[in-house]
Amino acid sequence: MNSALKSKISASIMCGDMMHFSEVVKDLEAASIDLIHVDIMDGSFVPNLTFGPDFCAALRKATDIPLDIHLMVERPENFLELFHPRPGEYVSVHVESTKHLQRVLGMVRRYGAKAAAALNPATSLSAVENVLPDLDMVLIMAVNPGFAGQRLVPQMIGKIAECRSFLDAKGYPGVEIEADGNVSFENAEKMKAAGANIFVSGSSGIFAGGTCFRDAVAKYRRGIA
Ligand code: DX5
Ligand code: ZN
Repeated sequence: MNSALKSKISASIMCGDMMHFSEVVKDLEAASIDLIHVDIMDGSFVPNLTFGPDFCAALRKATDIPLDIHLMVERPENFLELFHPRPGEYVSVHVESTKHLQRVLGMVRRYGAKAAAALNPATSLSAVENVLPDLDMVLIMAVNPGFAGQRLVPQMIGKIAECRSFLDAKGYPGVEIEADGNVSFENAEKMKAAGANIFVSGSSGIFAGGTCFRDAVAKYRRGIA
């Protein structure tokens, strides 16, 4: 396991109170969240629709917390310019969503952003074997993408461990691993032990009903320190 990588918590804003996003962002800042995870869905790659580039632009105006943009869209290469990624942000594209993965990862990096490949639960790690030099992060979907509130696909803990071993064995110990989906406090500890260092917290964590963001973040940090 690569403990050299700093643990980061990324709040999945699609799970927040959509009628009060500016307050949500202020509370996330007060809770010292590391990243804001923005799920972009096109209704084709996944059977759901969420936000677009204007929402990301509004978030950038509202906060300095870096965005962690998760593109669940077909042919992300056609939309990347609309999002205009910024240095310090992460942009994840699904390996299943493009014929030109290496090109798209290069496009992300040319904006100065961190390039990530996202893998659905059934997708093998071999899908990123030929783009390791182009990667800053691998996003391991712990649930099937498209909706919040789903249950962990149990074997994804093993997949995170396999991914960490794979990256280290290939000479890429600096490539981060993000766990996304049902990252509860308990699951986060298992994901950390397996080798993840970025944790997307949604409806089973920070945005679980009645949870104070500050307390939730502190609880995560105790568990994944
Ligand atoms: C699902 C998204 C996740 C989701 C996380 O397709 O990629 O980021 O919003 O929500 P929870 O934590 O409820 O699984
Ligand atoms: Zn996501």
